[in-house]
Amino acid sequence: MATSSSTQPRDTWGSKLGFVMAAAGSAVGLGNIWKFPYTAGESGGGAFVLIYLMFVLFIGFSVMLTEFAVGRKTGLSAVGAFKSTDRRWAFTGVIGVLSGLLIMGFYPVVGGWALAYIFKVGGGLLSTPEAIGDSFGGFISDPVQPLMWMGVYLMLNIVIVMRGISGGIEKAGKVLMPLLFVILITVAVYGMTLPGAMAGVEFLFKPDFSKVDSNVVLAALGQAFFSLSLGMGCMMTYGSYLKKKENLVQTTGMVTAMDTGVAILAGVAMFPAMFAFGMAPSAGPGLVFVVVPQLFAEMGGLIGLLLALLFFIGLTVAALTSSVSLLEVVVSYLIDEKGMKRSRAVISASVVMATLCVFASLSLGGVGPTLFGTGAFDIFDLLTDKIFLAVGGMLVCIFAGWRLSRSELEKEITNDGKVSFPLFGLWYNLVKYVIPVAIAIVAFMGIKSGFDSGKGEIMLVGIGIIALAGVFSKKL
Ligand code: TRP
Repeated sequence: MATSSSTQPRDTWGSKLGFVMAAAGSAVGLGNIWKFPYTAGESGGGAFVLIYLMFVLFIGFSVMLTEFAVGRKTGLSAVGAFKSTDRRWAFTGVIGVLSGLLIMGFYPVVGGWALAYIFKVGGGLLSTPEAIGDSFGGFISDPVQPLMWMGVYLMLNIVIVMRGISGGIEKAGKVLMPLLFVILITVAVYGMTLPGAMAGVEFLFKPDFSKVDSNVVLAALGQAFFSLSLGMGCMMTYGSYLKKKENLVQTTGMVTAMDTGVAILAGVAMFPAMFAFGMAPSAGPGLVFVVVPQLFAEMGGLIGLLLALLFFIGLTVAALTSSVSLLEVVVSYLIDEKGMKRSRAVISASVVMATLCVFASLSLGGVGPTLFGTGAFDIFDLLTDKIFLAVGGMLVCIFAGWRLSRSELEKEITNDGKVSFPLFGLWYNLVKYVIPVAIAIVAFMGIKSGFDSGKGEIMLVGIGIIALAGVFSKKL
């Protein structure tokens, strides 16, 4: 294993709180505030939310702990972490890097929307509430405007990641996450006071299992992985920068709780208001960009305007602290494995991401190539969220459970016996047996029913890519 930086002492997080906030910053993002509400809306509400919470508790938590442990133990980012133990496992890391590129092939598009909305709100969007919905539709299908915002958003990512992890990422996370939390609570409280709001609360929390099929179950699994930043070596890379004395179990608990709390809070902020406004819960990816401005327009006055501005600033910052973590995975791979300088690695990764984003953005206006009738934006989303992350998480568990020894893992997680973790046995068995089997079943059923909605073919392509990576693993 010849990695350029493994001989130098590795940059570590400045403080414990800094790490938790950075990891939470990675987890909390568009996945919670943009994706969770609209996916819950499209998937029928309460039952989806319940299944998602179960997956977070039993799968998400364990996988995150696994990623932190493997990352800290090896002190290497995604590919190196696997490779240093067993060359044949390098492909798992490579799939992670590929997922990072693909997620960054659409994430900055939505990040750009959030950024644009700061200016749209500032420019008087709220003064014509009835036009808010059409204005969003017109905006995202425009070929030029969203591309410009995406470009600005990507530039911000480049600037932060150029400065290295303990400079940019850590500071941004620490200052701006709490602000977002406060704004969300304000929005949620206000939304609940609107007439008819309770129907929204009921939609979100009263499970109706007649709406559940294997598609919904796979969507809930994908949402759990996406939201917690799991299944692609992101938390592994973050863990590799973590000091030996930190308590991994506690950190995992805090990050998982914060991430899930924000997702639920975002749901509570949006659904009651939607029902009060008589909007359909299955409004799709535009949901947050339509409901939230309407809500603030309803509130009216300077206070509505101010909160709307703060909301979209907060959303943009939350998106940024997540996307820099995605970029960081690809960058640290190029640094560790390809021996590139940080600046060169950042530029190389960003060029590929920007290109993918152009296709993703244009595809929403119906421009550009399609595969099985699906445009670039939806392809990247489907491949990562429904296939790569879940399979990546499954492989990480198999790797930890079957390739590493139980005592090694126990030593890492308990800091050589200094930290007690009474549930170690339960965690170990979940990771070794239960989670891989559960993911395999959910993915298989989900792909099967994906054919009914014309999405199965693309998911199969994803499986094919993973299989190819496995076959050629020795060359990676
Ligand atoms: N979790 C982030 C969000 O919810 C997105 C994200 C950042 C991510 N890093 C990741 C998703 C790694 C999967 C894997 O917005």
